Amino acid sequence: MTIAQSQRSLRLGVNIDHVATIRNARGGEHPDPVRAAFAAAAAGADGVTAHLREDRRHITDDDISRLIEKLTVPLNLEMAATDEMVEIALRHRPHAACIVPEKREERTTEGGLDAAGQHNQLAPFVSRLVDANIRVSLFIEPDPRQVEAAIRLKAPVVEFHTGRYAHLEGEARSEELRRISDAAALAVKNGIEPHAGHGLTFDNVLPVAAIPQVQELNIGHFLVGEAIFTGLEASVARMRGLMDEARG
Ligand code: PXP
Repeated sequence: MTIAQSQRSLRLGVNIDHVATIRNARGGEHPDPVRAAFAAAAAGADGVTAHLREDRRHITDDDISRLIEKLTVPLNLEMAATDEMVEIALRHRPHAACIVPEKREERTTEGGLDAAGQHNQLAPFVSRLVDANIRVSLFIEPDPRQVEAAIRLKAPVVEFHTGRYAHLEGEARSEELRRISDAAALAVKNGIEPHAGHGLTFDNVLPVAAIPQVQELNIGHFLVGEAIFTGLEASVARMRGLMDEARG
């Protein structure tokens, strides 16, 4: 990691899951998500995010081993709160683990974790990861009830699901942006570092990136899709540039 990258007030985590989706469509080794991780870091990503799903539909166990072995920027492992995933996280010790809700039939992570309703189920997973010095993040909706649950769970980080924001338009989008901004302020007031992600694109990233409390954005599907037209390094560099522009 360069000094400039480690000191940024808004970090970019590039989610490489869908490079693995394309690889898995044919089997074999191409395109390699680890190569994508290096390209993303070279283009200005501060970290790499990978979701090891229960059904291994994109990222595989071998991808996680290779990322841990080779990456020079922090790895954020997205995972469901299950014994299997916690064992994997404890074995590999990524820099961060983002706990997400996971349903086999969903196409992507739909909605945030119900940290408020599932406090007792989540608590042992959060504490095992925190005790292992892994920076735990809870992927939640920008809702004060969920932030309060994260405080009770002693999670050091929350990531706000921006999927609703990304799909809304006009006044409804502005209202959702206010919810994200208020939730980020509540998190910071309580010592929690706010991140955000899901559905972010060149067209909608600026207002989210301009929320001063937000310290990291995790972006994947759009960047990998855009890479088909411009190359991954160019798509990551442009996103990085927009985030810097939003922070003035
Ligand atoms: N953050 C989390 C927790 C996610 O689950 C995802 C999707 O895998 C992302 C960020 C990135 O979302 P997108 O691929 O829509 O940019």
